[in-house]
Amino acid sequence: MTLTENFRQETLDRLGINSTEQGAYGGKWFNPHGPIYTAHSPIDGEAISKIRLCSREDYEKIVSATRKAFEEWQEIPAPKRGTVIKALGDKLVKSKEDLGRLVTLEIGKTINEGNGEIQEMIDIAYFAMGLSRQLYGLTIASERPNHKLLEQWSPVGIVGVITAFNFPSAVWSWNSMIAAACGDAVLWKPSTKAALVAIGVMKLLTETLETSGAPPIFSLVCGSGNEMGSLISQDKRIPLVSFTGSTSTGRVISKSVAERFGKSILELGGNNAAIVTDKCDMEVALKGVAFGSLATAGQRCTSTRRVIVHDSIYSEFVSRLKVIFEKARIGNPIDPETLVGPLIDAEAVEKFLKAIETARSQGGKVLCGGVRANVNGEKGGNYVVPCLMEATPDMAITNQETFGPLLYVFRYKTLEEAIRIHNSVPQGLSSSIFTTDLREEELFISHKGSDCGIVNVNTSTAGAEIGGAFGGEKETGGGRESGSDAWKNYMRRHTVTINYGKDLPLAQGVRFDV
Ligand code: UN1
Repeated sequence: MTLTENFRQETLDRLGINSTEQGAYGGKWFNPHGPIYTAHSPIDGEAISKIRLCSREDYEKIVSATRKAFEEWQEIPAPKRGTVIKALGDKLVKSKEDLGRLVTLEIGKTINEGNGEIQEMIDIAYFAMGLSRQLYGLTIASERPNHKLLEQWSPVGIVGVITAFNFPSAVWSWNSMIAAACGDAVLWKPSTKAALVAIGVMKLLTETLETSGAPPIFSLVCGSGNEMGSLISQDKRIPLVSFTGSTSTGRVISKSVAERFGKSILELGGNNAAIVTDKCDMEVALKGVAFGSLATAGQRCTSTRRVIVHDSIYSEFVSRLKVIFEKARIGNPIDPETLVGPLIDAEAVEKFLKAIETARSQGGKVLCGGVRANVNGEKGGNYVVPCLMEATPDMAITNQETFGPLLYVFRYKTLEEAIRIHNSVPQGLSSSIFTTDLREEELFISHKGSDCGIVNVNTSTAGAEIGGAFGGEKETGGGRESGSDAWKNYMRRHTVTINYGKDLPLAQGVRFDV
């Protein structure tokens, strides 16, 4: 057996994943009636397991079971719900390595990043436990005597969560742990490319829900994006849909959710840039840009795709970054020395190569990489060599998100010019400035600076913590998930007016004498 074969077998054994898995859970695991999908590992292209997908009839059954679980769950006081969520977090702590390995096997993240993915789930679970005692509302001064205005929050019902392959479980947990604290139930439709991770996570967490005596508030529908995605977006029983994925799919989903007056939380494409000024700490900037562009092989929504460098340090910065790119170890993500693992599939490799060709035809100059990588012993894997490319912001391709390790380098003279370049793309997720100058930093985080939802100073565009609200502006979709007060998106707000007097004074001084 090769290293990867051993790893595959052991990972599947540890989680009890079989050669054919059921991609359907609604109160219990059952045999769905859709087609069979074969999951392949991007590490070596080998099949991992078969998954039975859902049909429309299966979907109906699952939504009904989820609704039933919600009816029960919303009656449980929030801090009691919090203790169940704590148990979910504890379970994830115990299973961190097992699940992290599955992320590596199915998605190709390095072992380190696979563990990081599960740590993100643990962090949000404990955050949600605390939150369960902090679902507060305001009391507001009333203009009328003997009146009180207050806000009260109720759960919304079923939250539909549609996730992408690149954060196969963390993004689900940002939504689901918070939704659970709020009293909602969650219907999960994972990317088929990451369905096994979803199955692995659900196997562990539904078991914990059961032993905690909680209703089965988490459900799973594996199926095609087109079919299951449109069922969810059109389903009036799902008042809130959280979607992570491409801008083009997000546009379709959000339209059909809006058509029925549902709400959506959208986390769509990013085209994140870092500005490196002449006042930067060069070591910090190099590390920050390298991590942002190379981690997860450039397949994060938050990956750094453009770096805008001051003219006076351009040569030094770019030549040193090139050395880092060339040295970054590409390889089997199981190997702890590997920094850059494979892309998700052969199509992603084609798109990466095509983007480089297009960029070249628009005037881009490849400084390094941009070709397929041969990783010893992994013939079927989807490996590429990270590409650093000198470019100009007027190249149309630099307005697009290429999901891979491709970094465009631009040159600037004034910070105003750098910010203009920074904000000139249609997307608005994450951003960074590398500077030790207070004025430059303050300008960048002000309304005259970055137009993104996430703004970083002296750290990478990628790698946000769960404590803040996560999401972006413009074509990124405007949604906010995870920390801060993002929980408000998962609840309904009642503005309550209480008259405890013996009269009926009206607002705005209106008189209505009967
Ligand atoms: C994503 O790529 O969809 O900030 C999420 C980060 C991670 C989450 C990325 N914590 O890079």
